[in-house]
Amino acid sequence: MAGATILVLNGPNLNLLGVREPATYGPDTLADIEESCLERAAELDLAVDFRQSNHEGQLVDWIQEARENADGIVLNAGAYTHTSIAILDALKASELPVIEVHLSNIHRRENFRRHSYVSEAAQGVICGFGALGYLLALEAMAQLIKRD
Ligand code: DQA
Repeated sequence: MAGATILVLNGPNLNLLGVREPATYGPDTLADIEESCLERAAELDLAVDFRQSNHEGQLVDWIQEARENADGIVLNAGAYTHTSIAILDALKASELPVIEVHLSNIHRRENFRRHSYVSEAAQGVICGFGALGYLLALEAMAQLIKRD
């Protein structure tokens, strides 16, 4: 789908990337990641709407709006990944393709990070590749949307 819009949504504490636990999350800031997503999206003929919030309800509102404004969702829900049934419900209601991203390999860390509510609504999960994961997700999304 040429010119499709992908909502790239980031949850709590991801505004602190670059400063926050760089050994786990890498040196890139969220602004760096946004810039590389915009570059890759242009090559893929996609538009990217890149957002971050620390607030669960705000994330839910944006996912609801995506039903009308976007063609797919790339989501790093941060810690809400492991807790938020509200985000899961909003993703299901959106009826959009969803790709879940984590900078870190959540299966290699504490046990509580192993369960993801988001995964129940996701077409696929990319984790452990740092900022590259967002670009891989955009590539996968471009293919998914083309197939539909
Ligand atoms: C994260 C992993 C989550 O467990 C954590 O709460 C985050 C970031 C990641 O990108 O690796 O905030 O989603």
